Amino acid sequence: MLIKMMISKKRKLGKMPGISSKLVETGLKSNWAHNLFHSKFVYPFSSARSSLFYAWKSMNLPKGDEILIPSFICNSVSEPLIEAGAKIKYFKVLPDGNYDWEELASLDLSNVKVFLWVHFLGLAGDFSEALKFCKSKRLYLLEDCSHALLTTYKNKTVGSFGDVACFSLRKCLPVLGGGVLQINNPKFNKPFLNINKNPQVGDKARQDGERLEYFNYLRSIQSWQVNGGDLLYKEVLPNIDFILNDKRFPYELDQISQNIINNIDFCDLKRKVRRNFKIYFKHLKPISLFNKLDTGDVPIGFPVIVKNRDAFRSELERHDILPTCHWPDYLLPDGVAKQFPDTLKLANSILTLPCHQDLSTEDITYACEVIKNLLLEEKNYA
Ligand SMILES: Cc1ncc(COP(=O)(O)O)c(C=O)c1O
Repeated sequence: MLIKMMISKKRKLGKMPGISSKLVETGLKSNWAHNLFHSKFVYPFSSARSSLFYAWKSMNLPKGDEILIPSFICNSVSEPLIEAGAKIKYFKVLPDGNYDWEELASLDLSNVKVFLWVHFLGLAGDFSEALKFCKSKRLYLLEDCSHALLTTYKNKTVGSFGDVACFSLRKCLPVLGGGVLQINNPKFNKPFLNINKNPQVGDKARQDGERLEYFNYLRSIQSWQVNGGDLLYKEVLPNIDFILNDKRFPYELDQISQNIINNIDFCDLKRKVRRNFKIYFKHLKPISLFNKLDTGDVPIGFPVIVKNRDAFRSELERHDILPTCHWPDYLLPDGVAKQFPDTLKLANSILTLPCHQDLSTEDITYACEVIKNLLLEEKNYA
């Protein structure tokens, strides 16, 4: 009975927020970066992967120096670092996504100069341990804030703790691209133009033309990625890979994205995503990857752990719930799955449920009911 009622629901619960014409069309209120970052040394790129590339470059470390990276990571993090000249040392991640700090401390770190911390899905998690670890081992900290644009830790925005930090705008806001590099360590190179002084560099015409088409399409369907995954990106914007991997710098955001950012009510956004996360947490505790939400956390999704993840995901899609996956095995860096079996296990069982600001209490409750029914009916998921 319950399922029948749910199937009749019209709206698909997409993975990203939709955008309204109000967000796209109204004019600039102020410089978009001022709304989000509180540092002078903030540089725009086409994507976080490009900013990671320049993060390594800005450190200007000798060849052979290593960066310590969790083995459960997306190859869009490892590849630009390797391309920039970094040598990567991966470390073990536990099946629950946590790190074994004692084991980490016992590793041979003689060539390691940098530690990469990911604010995974927008949660600060064990960040205090990371800060202690970097201090005790005298490592530079590279904060990957790609999932955590609006997250704060101890009342300070994430990205302001590390020597250098990277952000991805498109993962946290309804814009298409955009990465940011923030350089906090005064020793590091800043061979970039300051965006505040040069607001319109980059191949703007190409970006705007394509994005306008893209946004018009999105507006017509109202919810981002309803057709599932990157397919929509590729259909509407065949050049997306080119844009994300474009390493020219700086790469100012197109005007439409700037307008969107300047018109977002960030307090409202934070309140809604946190509310949605908490509803999931209340209903789905037994399969939740996380066991708490800190006061500054602004999540981009609610991760669950299920057996037969791909079948489970298909069932959810049948009920118009479109989760994503951070990260499936095919996005792990080369060799990691073989070397770290727990990482592979995690990659095969994790699923991120949507909790963005466009989804209402009713939407999330609906998703929880569908999931609880599935877990009850099909014992092979829990
Ligand atoms: C933790 C993390 N960092 C960086 C990236 C790269 O972000 P972008 O798509 O903006 O290049 C991703 C995902 O692709 C990610 O999950």
